[in-house]
Amino acid sequence: MTMIRTRLAQLLRPRRLRRTETMRALVREHRVEIAQLVQPLFIVENPSDAGPITSMPGVSRHTITTAVQEAGVLEALGVRSVLLFGIPETKDAVASSNYDPNGIVQQAARAIKTAFPHMLVVADLCNCEYTDHGHCGIIDEQGYVDNDATVEILVRTALTYARAGVDVIAPSDMMDGRVKAIREALDADGFEQVAIMAYSAKYASAFYGPFREAADSAPQFGDRRSYQMDAPNAREAMREIAIDVDEGADIVMVKPGMPYLDIVRAARDRFDVPIAVYNVSGEYSMIKAAARNGWIDEDRAVDELLVGFVRAGADVIITYFAKDYAARHGAQ
Ligand code: PBG
Repeated sequence: MTMIRTRLAQLLRPRRLRRTETMRALVREHRVEIAQLVQPLFIVENPSDAGPITSMPGVSRHTITTAVQEAGVLEALGVRSVLLFGIPETKDAVASSNYDPNGIVQQAARAIKTAFPHMLVVADLCNCEYTDHGHCGIIDEQGYVDNDATVEILVRTALTYARAGVDVIAPSDMMDGRVKAIREALDADGFEQVAIMAYSAKYASAFYGPFREAADSAPQFGDRRSYQMDAPNAREAMREIAIDVDEGADIVMVKPGMPYLDIVRAARDRFDVPIAVYNVSGEYSMIKAAARNGWIDEDRAVDELLVGFVRAGADVIITYFAKDYAARHGAQ
């Protein structure tokens, strides 16, 4: 007995630092800051499309009026960045409702910036919500998305977003060369201060399922594999990010989040620009569904999830949990 005790006394005892919450808080290595969270907002042009999204419990489609109210609630909670997605009333083959200076994102951005000038307004830039075929660009004769024709309309749309007061343009289409084209057009039009957050390593993912219901943007034929990345590829993600940084991206993004934390870490180690991660709709809905069934504790799962992104190296976290997280952790 005595011998055993003597031996144990020589042990290294990491558990000493886990004894109390005070001790654990003292030595905690990573923390989630509310200021690094971005809340996505879905905004409809037709008010009859507003309301709860069945596949994303707790998330709604907003009218411009309720989006502005929501921005006020978020700002009061300390969430100071929103990512806008527009759901237009009309769609066509070339996404013309997207570059309409009075389109839904343009109107919403103006309204939010007028009511809350300090709110950082990020606009997702893509065409899938605006095309009748649901693809992210113009379709060529072979049924592929035509890269350069799509970049042209992205540029046109980006300028209308900038004129509406958007602070950050976030292209999520995965066309080659779009960051450079958008940067040049913004600069030529006097919008040197408008930043670009590029969805650089965006994978073709099953985890976007609920979003496509929310944004009414499911492709009507085929899939997005000819432009979004192939899940097994990691080196290619570094190449995509390097190209976007080179083309002028201010912030680069990895998307989805949970299955791609290795990509977030690799990007953090390799590049010196801020790294964003998108905790996508499917990741959100899985947690909500399990919590609603009583299978997991939602609050603890979300805390663990978000600190996991920070630990992996993310600077910016786009998450549908932003508001709830801030409500639970904000200044008391
Ligand atoms: C637009 C876009 C998508 C998402 C963000 N921007 C959908 C897609 O690429 O199919 C997904 C977001 C989410 O799932 O939360 N292209």
